[in-house]
Amino acid sequence: MNMGCPFVPQVRKGRGAGMLVRSDVISEISRHVQSMTDMIFSIKMRLGVEKPTDWRDIIGIINDMPLSHLTIHPRTASQQYAGELHTDEFNRLLEQSTNPVIFNGDIESPSQIDAIRESHSELNGIMLGRGLLKRPSVIAEWYQQREWTHAERVSHLLDLHEAIFEHYSKTLTGGDAQILSKIKPLWEYLGTEFERKAIKKIIKANSISGYRIAVMQLA
Ligand SMILES: Cc1cc2nc3c(=O)[nH]c(=O)nc-3n(C[C@H](O)[C@H](O)[C@H](O)COP(=O)(O)O)c2cc1C
Repeated sequence: MNMGCPFVPQVRKGRGAGMLVRSDVISEISRHVQSMTDMIFSIKMRLGVEKPTDWRDIIGIINDMPLSHLTIHPRTASQQYAGELHTDEFNRLLEQSTNPVIFNGDIESPSQIDAIRESHSELNGIMLGRGLLKRPSVIAEWYQQREWTHAERVSHLLDLHEAIFEHYSKTLTGGDAQILSKIKPLWEYLGTEFERKAIKKIIKANSISGYRIAVMQLA
């Protein structure tokens, strides 16, 4: 259940992260979850809408639900995707949750994975979003306990890009313009390892062949 989306029009309607301050709705959902024993649920949520303490009013209801896991992005909806992570509140929530907890937010390197695991032994997992797009090799690097060279990371990133490009080419039916409009926004994250000029060329490409040439020049 997505109680993490901070998109303002949704939050205003009490959806996504907006649900965090609707304990009546969460109570009703909880009753359904408890009765649907043939399904497994999980929740992804923020700490609150305006306040990082909003979660305190609903954690009891959440604890009544047998979740596979509860993933926490310790920001408020109004923070969107930047600003301080409320680690103190996260730690309190971790103590109070009876469900397995997964941490999410701003993890971008193998050493950050180690640091969060060392400081929070009670965690049941770590989730990466943007960090994984910026550095797709990060999990492999962590497993190997070795930071990869720039060339290794780039090669891995370009392999991922190739797989996504191929997938879009096979599955999208709206032609080249649709493929380009779907794949280009990824470069906001994939592009962090490269020079700004090279990424601009990719974003500006208005044909598949121009796009492919610009991407190839990164290797
Ligand atoms: C482009 C984008 C789309 C996202 N879409 C969703 C979504 O559909 N559902 C969700 O729970 N979180 C979504 N998120 C939030 C991420 O799952 C994650 O909680 C947030 O980015 C913080 O983690 P990170 O720093 O590892 O990226 C999205 C984030 C971004 C940047």
